[in-house]
Amino acid sequence: MTEGKPFSQACENNKQVILEKLAAVFSSPGTILEIGTGTGQHAVHFAGNLRHVTWQPSDHPSNYQLCEPRLAEARLPNISKPLALDVSISDWQLPPVNGAFSANTAHIMSWQEVKAMFRGVAANLQQGEAFCLYGPFNYGGTFTSASNQQFDASLRRQKPTMGIRDMDDLEQISSENGLILESDFEMPANNRLLVWRKH
Ligand SMILES: C[S@@+](CC[C@H](N)C(=O)[O-])C[C@H]1O[C@@H](n2cnc3c(N)ncnc32)[C@H](O)[C@@H]1O
Repeated sequence: MTEGKPFSQACENNKQVILEKLAAVFSSPGTILEIGTGTGQHAVHFAGNLRHVTWQPSDHPSNYQLCEPRLAEARLPNISKPLALDVSISDWQLPPVNGAFSANTAHIMSWQEVKAMFRGVAANLQQGEAFCLYGPFNYGGTFTSASNQQFDASLRRQKPTMGIRDMDDLEQISSENGLILESDFEMPANNRLLVWRKH
């Protein structure tokens, strides 16, 4: 039964291709923090297929309970109770985590929040641990597709602080926080899966 649960068609479309990448990055046992969990479709798919990890969902305090019905239905032993986490608070006060993942959040958060996300992730990872970020990104100020350009325009019309982020800017804030870009995978529908590692 999934009727009545918050649902994202995009998550259904991308969850398997993302899983195939995450399986290689998060190959060791440990706890993976998910930022901006949303409906919980990713959490259930990844935790269900990566039984060696403990999945720690989280989302903004206004949204973190959205995933609860889906997590309750899945009854997976390796998903923890979702945490209320606004990335912009200075001390995340998390239990120890060994990796982080976030999908489709960087273009929704303001740039200040994106910077705070990188700061917080870096503060909570140990050397060698990874942060995976999925979504659409620009390169050298250029859109990778007309559909991403249209998407960006619609985001900015809704809220001027939203918008597709540029890799140059992300590289700068990641390196300021000791996160080194390890991989930049091309994904379907003009998306990318970026992998940073803490140094
Ligand atoms: C487009 S949804 C993506 C949800 C899900 N990850 C997915 O791929 O479908 C963006 C998510 O970012 C979260 N978000 C926005 N601002 C945030 C913040 N300051 N701290 C934590 N999460 C935030 C929203 O609550 C929402 O769940």
